[in-house]
Amino acid sequence: MKFLNQIIAAIVLTFVIILGINKSSDYIYKVEAPKAVFNVETKIVSDDTLKKETGSIDIKALLAMGDVDHGKKVFSACKSCHSIKEGGGNKIGPALWAVLGRPLGAVEGYKYSKALVEFGGEWNFETMNLFLIKPKKYISGTKMSYAGLKSEKDRASVILYLNQYSSNPLQLP
Ligand code: HEC
Repeated sequence: MKFLNQIIAAIVLTFVIILGINKSSDYIYKVEAPKAVFNVETKIVSDDTLKKETGSIDIKALLAMGDVDHGKKVFSACKSCHSIKEGGGNKIGPALWAVLGRPLGAVEGYKYSKALVEFGGEWNFETMNLFLIKPKKYISGTKMSYAGLKSEKDRASVILYLNQYSSNPLQLP
């Protein structure tokens, strides 16, 4: 009789363990699911942002997501084509010292695409944000071969980083 009890106890225990494993894998699955949904939403927001008029973007909220140290890391993707330091020359792309606040296509001696020069306007937080989402979509025909920065935090951070490299940084909104 005692032996039978032990067998029953063993069977019950096995069930409890299997149930436990099932439950915890349920849990892991549930934690991952919203993450995937979140990623998809981030992309949709970015694309929508691109379509909106410059003025309707909450640039203050966007810049608040930024972090200069992170911007330095993001800029490492731009470095092969752009110098940022004062007195830095043109590379594949134009020198970016004090780019915020100046008109598009303003570096003397750099051969810009016709598309960028004709686009006109000036580089401010709004136009820089729109350009960096997807350069070729914002200025169709630009010769900047760069896919763009989907993440709002990446864009905000690199914009804050660019703004530091100027003797006259733009005032944050
Ligand atoms: C593969 C090379 C390459 C990379 C990488 C690249 N750029 Fe460029 N960039 C260019 C070229 C080329 C142009 C000139 C575009 C034109 O004339 O149409 C340009 C133009 C620009 C301009 C316009 C400057 C002006 O004087 O009007 C800005 C701003 C800029 N890039 C920012 C960035 C940032 C920020 C990054 C990184 C997130 C980046 N670029 C990555 C090649 C690059």
